[in-house]
Amino acid sequence: MADEPLVLGIETSCDETGVGIVRGTTLLADAVASSVDTHARFGGVVPEIASRAHLEAMVPTIERALKEAGVGARDLDGIAVTAGPGLAGALLVGVSAAKAYAYALGKPLYGVNHLASHICVDQLEHGPLPEPTMALLVSGGHSSLLLAPDITRDVRPLGATIDDAAGEAFDKIARVLDLGFPGGPVIDRLAKEGDPKAIAFPRGLSGSRDPAYDFSFSGLKTSVARWIEAKRAAGEDVPVRDVAASFQEAVVDVLTRKAVRACKDEGVDHLMIGGGVAANSRLRALAEERCERAGIRLRVPRPGLCTDNGAMVAALGAEMVARNRPASDLELSADSSLPVTETHVPGAHAHAHGVGHDHVHEISKDNLYS
Ligand code: KG4
Ligand code: ZN
Repeated sequence: MADEPLVLGIETSCDETGVGIVRGTTLLADAVASSVDTHARFGGVVPEIASRAHLEAMVPTIERALKEAGVGARDLDGIAVTAGPGLAGALLVGVSAAKAYAYALGKPLYGVNHLASHICVDQLEHGPLPEPTMALLVSGGHSSLLLAPDITRDVRPLGATIDDAAGEAFDKIARVLDLGFPGGPVIDRLAKEGDPKAIAFPRGLSGSRDPAYDFSFSGLKTSVARWIEAKRAAGEDVPVRDVAASFQEAVVDVLTRKAVRACKDEGVDHLMIGGGVAANSRLRALAEERCERAGIRLRVPRPGLCTDNGAMVAALGAEMVARNRPASDLELSADSSLPVTETHVPGAHAHAHGVGHDHVHEISKDNLYS
């Protein structure tokens, strides 16, 4: 609908320069420039290379998104940008670009949280998020279970990884198996031809006394690496497909079991899964199976919207505008460790876009204390 907010979102927290444009919950453009190929030969993301790549890709990607959406920069109702968490130098490029565009165009600026954006993106695929939403976010940088009563200002962490992120475990095991970087997609592919029950790898933090919603993948990683080493030391062939399938099963078994348990405990009847690892075919299948058995509706965006992208930032920005949340100041700075509870970074003189002065105080106070 034409009266819904038109927002451009910029994402540069890691190695993807993403620029998305949405109108309300409708996706108009999703332009992404990735520097993943440059990092591949280092076996991981190199922060300085990522920052430089963002700088080079920023303006062309913004122009590509505007063209794809068929809108002019002046038509925008706001500019949203990932303020954190992420790589400090990489975030800085996006935040600086967003500030420059907001200032030059005279549009409100919204510095938003990367994790809340990963959840909000599902609105572009499956319509408005139910409230509260239960979200399992799994990527190379994060693994969290979050309860979001209001995606614009109330996101509560129920659990997180105490060591490696789920995607990081995929990347590390792929490295041990000499499969290249990133590891998730190739392990996913090989696992389809392997036996997930071939090797009983450990399920981290799954004992009765362990925290119900936290994750741990470092023990699993060590166990898989030792198993491979032992095979090699004995001069035997490593059954790569079975290792991939058994490792992947250990990861997705724990992720889905804990996520479904959180839904049941909190009385939430649907689950959204986001982040790069949500592209995993076995995670999707097992989550579908377990959710169905528990009477939970599963919402997983298509893979392109699960990995880092600008559309997710625009989606959360549009929700901020629609709900009259206060804009950020032009002094907005990137915060590499922005807590997940801070869904956005309102300015010190927070004011809601398009509301009279009397509302201003009320809305900013509401935002501070809720
Ligand atoms: O969300 P994302 O693009 O960037 C981060 O914020 O980290 O996630 C990237 C991560 C990488 O660790 C990659 O190996 C993993 O997501 N990944 C997968 C799959 N596709 C990407 N993991 C498992 N299965 C996949 N199909
Ligand atoms: Zn991410």
